[in-house]
Parts: sequence; C-alpha cells; structure tokens
Amino acid sequence: MCGIVGFIRMPDEDVVDDDTSDSVGPHAQEEPDSSEFCGKSFLFSALQKLTYRGYDSCGMALMYETSSGQHKIAVQKSAGKVHRLSPLLDFLPGDSHVGIAHTRWATHGPPTSMNAHPHRHRGIALVHNGIVENSHVLRDQLDHRTYLSDTDSEVVLWTIHHYLKESSWEEAMMRLAESCEGSYTMAIMDQTQPDKMFVTKYGSPLVVGFGDVGGFCASDVSAIDGVAHRLLFLEDGDVGVLRSSSFEFLVGDRGQKQLKNKTQKISSDDPADQSFFTAISGASESYDKGEYPHYMLKEITEQPRVLAGIIDRCVDLDQQRIREDELGLTKIDLNRVREVHFIGCGSAYYASLIGSLAMEAYGVLPCRVSQASEYRYGSVVITPYTLVIAVSQSGETADTLGCVRHALSRGAQVLSICNVRYSSLCRISTASVLMGAQTEVAVASTKAFTAQVLWLFLMACHIHSRRRFPALSGLFGDLSCLSQAVQHVLSPEIKQIIQHWGQQISTQKSCLFIGRHVNAAVAFEGALKLKEITYIHAEAYPAGELKHGPLALVDSHMMMMAIAPQDHHYPKMLSNIEEVCARGARVFLVTTGEDLKLRSLCHEVISVPDLISPYLQSILCTVVLQLVAYYSAVNLGYDVDQPRNLAKSVTVE
Ligand code: M6R
Repeated sequence: MCGIVGFIRMPDEDVVDDDTSDSVGPHAQEEPDSSEFCGKSFLFSALQKLTYRGYDSCGMALMYETSSGQHKIAVQKSAGKVHRLSPLLDFLPGDSHVGIAHTRWATHGPPTSMNAHPHRHRGIALVHNGIVENSHVLRDQLDHRTYLSDTDSEVVLWTIHHYLKESSWEEAMMRLAESCEGSYTMAIMDQTQPDKMFVTKYGSPLVVGFGDVGGFCASDVSAIDGVAHRLLFLEDGDVGVLRSSSFEFLVGDRGQKQLKNKTQKISSDDPADQSFFTAISGASESYDKGEYPHYMLKEITEQPRVLAGIIDRCVDLDQQRIREDELGLTKIDLNRVREVHFIGCGSAYYASLIGSLAMEAYGVLPCRVSQASEYRYGSVVITPYTLVIAVSQSGETADTLGCVRHALSRGAQVLSICNVRYSSLCRISTASVLMGAQTEVAVASTKAFTAQVLWLFLMACHIHSRRRFPALSGLFGDLSCLSQAVQHVLSPEIKQIIQHWGQQISTQKSCLFIGRHVNAAVAFEGALKLKEITYIHAEAYPAGELKHGPLALVDSHMMMMAIAPQDHHYPKMLSNIEEVCARGARVFLVTTGEDLKLRSLCHEVISVPDLISPYLQSILCTVVLQLVAYYSAVNLGYDVDQPRNLAKSVTVE
C-alpha cells in the first residue's frame, strides 16, 4: 500500500566529519557523506524499495533555493510504475535539502497523476498514507471549492491552509490530528519553513531516522536503511517536527489518541536521548530477482532453504528436542494459557488454520482461528488466560495490529510470528519471533506461508512435549527430510508437469479446490493464490461440504483441484472425487503414492513425497499449488509479482 519517504539534510556546516562520526554497525561505512548525497537520487531509490508494498502511481517533491534566496517546491508525479516517473525527474532540481516522495495505492479516486501524491498548493506539499474517513466533513468546513484531485489527502492539505490562517504550524498540526478520523500518516513540507518537516502518524506506520546526512522519515525501514542508523518508531497519535538532527514531539502522549500539548525534543546526537532510538542492527538485506524471471518463482524456489534454516534454528535433531527459546515462548507465561486464538489475514489466516489443527491435536488446547478483520469487531471473549498468536508476514497489516491491541487491552498475552524486523507487530506484541523467511517481495505469499505453517507446527509440538504427552512418532524423521521433500516437488520433472497444468488452467474461467482437514486449508490457500495472480475465479471448500451446495456448480465445464494425500481422510476424499467425476468435472489431483484407480479417474495427477505428519505434508501440497498459480499466470502474461488491485503490505482496514 502507499509508501512515504522524506529527508531533511543537514546544513553543510553541521555535517559530521567522517573521522569523528560515531556511527555504529555495518551501515556506518555505507552511508554517503553529505557532499555525495543527492536528495533526488535518494528519494528515487527509496521509492523503488517501497514499490514492493503495492502501488499504482507515484511522485516526488523537492524544495530548492532560487537565485534570489527564496525557497520553492517542485513536484513531479506519474500514474503507473516508478519507471514512468524516472524521466520526469529531470525537471526537478538536482540540489535540494528537503524532499518527500510517495507511492500511492488508490483509495479515493483512480490512479491518475492528478490523484498521485505529493499534493502541493500555495507552497505546501503533502504526502499521506491511510484513509481520512471524515474527509467529507472536513471538506464541508472549508470555504475552498476548487479541488484538483479526488483524494481525501487534498482535502487535508486545504484544511492545513485553513488552520494556518489563524494558527502557527505547530498548532495547525495538532488541530489537524484532532480533526482527522481514520488513518492519517503524513509528511508535509512548507517552503516558508525550509528546515522542518511536519509529520503525523496514525494507522499506517512511520519511522523517523537519523544519519550523518540528516533526518529521514519513511513508512518502511527498508527505504532509509543505509542512510539512517538511529530509528525512532512513531506511535499512533504522534505529531511532530522533523529537523535534520532532531525530532520534536508536538503531541508527546505517545501511542494515545488523547492529545496533550506537551512537547519533547529528541536530538539524534544528544547522549541523554539515545534511549529513544533503536540502532539498526544486522547487515541490510539486498534482495533482487537474480536469475529468476519473477520474485514469486524465486521465493517459491527458496523454500527448501528457508524451511531448513528454521529447523536448524529451532530443532536439535540429534537430541530430538525443540528449542523453546527460539520459539519466542520464554516470554510467555504458558502456565496461564487456557486457550489459543490464532489471527491473521489472507495466507496468514490459512496458515493459522493449519496451526490451530496442530495445536488442538498436539497441544490439546482449545483453539479459535479468526480472520483479523472479523475478530476485533465481534464479541470474542478474550481473557488473561488467552494466548493470541498473531501471524503476519509484513507485521504491518492494519487489521492484525488492531486485533493485537484489542487483545492486549483485555489482558491476553500475544505472541506474534512475523517476517519483518522492526515491524509494528513485533514491537507491540508480548513476544515475537522473526520467521526468518527473508524478504518476500511478490504480493502472492509463498515462502512466508510455508514458514508460518512450520513455525506453528513447531509450537504445537513444543506445547505437546511440555505437557508431557507421549512422544510424537515420526516427528524428527519428518523434520529431517522436509527440506529435501520440498526440493523434490521443485524438481524440473514436476515443474514441467505443472507448467503443462498451467497451460490448461489458464484457459478456464473458474476452478474449485477441495480437500479435507489440513488440506481444506491448503485448498483455500491454493484458490487464493490462483485468483490473486491469474484473476481466474477460484473457490475452495472442505470436500465434505460439496454436497451442501457447491456440487450444483459441477458439470463438464468445471475444473477441480483436489488435494488428497493418502492419509486418514483419503477414503472420504476418494468418494468426493468420484462424485465430481460422475458429473463430468475435470479433476487435477495432488496426492501421495500411486493409486491406479484415482489415476484413471482424474484428468491429471501429481504425486508428492509422503510424510507422516499431515501438517508438514500440507507444505508439500501447497508448493504444488503455488507453482500451479505461478505457471497459469505466466501463461496468461500477467504481472505475477504485482497483481492488479493488491498490495503487499495492507496498512488500511
Ligand atoms: O503481511 P501479512 O501476512 O499480514 O498479510 C496478510 C495478507 O494480506 C496476505 O497473506 C495476502 O493474503 C497475500 N497476498 C496472499 O498471497
């Protein structure tokens, strides 16, 4: 979704000499010195880093000094991808000390260049993430009538102008934060205030950072990694002024909507203020497609390594033991836990479905699984005895974060499983584990999903052994060969078969996915993948549900994807497959072993390696469905990594 980035450069005389710089960590050497720093290039490369979030237009605003010593703001915007903005940057000044840029994911109005950010009027430029839900109310309060865009953000800009007629900037910002409803994370610059950038954070994330070159803000650490080495994560309700080496809270009651006119200035170089900052640690991850045509294929292919890495970290295969400390459970009072609530969205929700089945079977704890967008608004009973497991690749999904805050306020403990260091979810949870899938760029989640399933499985196994239930047979054997089994599914022979499936599937209008138990969740995940990137209508059902309605859809035009490894549920799946075949459906089957009867019934069959645990088996079947979606989308010639209308990081509700 929308991404913000901004910088405010140190005045030349204040630039820290390289020899005296106290930069720490691996980034110290990477930071450009101020004379090399070009604001335009920085913003452009930061925009590129933000694109993975999903967007449909973009823009940049730079402040510059005219020959008469006045400051002006130049803006360039473009509909479409950042490469379309690139030629327009020639019209922006090369030398600028303050600038903002934005990737927009359309909410109010189509993705046109007019609706793209920054919006600029009368010397003030603004970028905004989120949705100001009461923008129509704000608009009615203004006497201003000429709008150039359809956006709520432009209404906000005119509201600021309105407040500035009778207030200082600081007061205007505080009034703005009081008046806006919904989510309103913003960075604003004014040509009459060239040494300041005004920011608010509510809903969508915003981090402020400082480095030798100056001050920065961004909706994602990745955008300022390499230039900022001290980070200040803003909390909902924060309003402040960013300068090149300090951040002044105008609303200092952090994390609360209750506004207080209490200011606090945090200096990046004042030793007394260092406790406010998080130092960036660890080398920044560079992540490109390498030899792969798409990130999605790269990420699918990385799964054996990711899964092996998690097992290596969390499991002592020799001692047949799971390492509790790696599961993030040491900070959770497990003795208090009477029930587990799993929450997530999209793929994270489907991974949670599998995790909850494992937790019920192995941990013998009552479980509830909810889509985060539903959990918070129902009347779910949450108590201090509830353990909430929040699953999210990005750690910035607004719905998931909302649930976590809600659960914490009810006294529950929250364990989050997340893939992004420094994400909001990691920071607010009682305990969190970084899932170690490394950057996932493609909007369609693949390696993060299978990593989530593995983490949840290991947690269930750990709770099982902690409760002193009899050892799970075959567990460590399965774990020791999981990565190899996934590698087998990714073999050229199987890929070739799936490519052929892709050719057939891409000609279809609709597809039904069926499975039972964990494989019902796999079916949901497979259908989600297919619809996300091929735009083919795909639905999933637990196979036993077919007769209760969806069977009416089945005729000789219906394509079915059946997930039926030879497990406990196999005989029942067999009957379901017979039923749909009897009605003429073409069945593509993912199974294990060789069953000649099924082979003769089904249109196409792939057999994957057999594992004892159905939960780990689900990973193998999922990988097949990832490839099915991938090759179908490639065949259709669609943008596999950034499908229409979708975003990687869903920061609005
Ligand atoms: O970052 P999160 O894991 O919280 O994201 C949740 C969903 O938005 C995400 O899984 C989405 O469904 C994917 N595009 C699925 O491929």
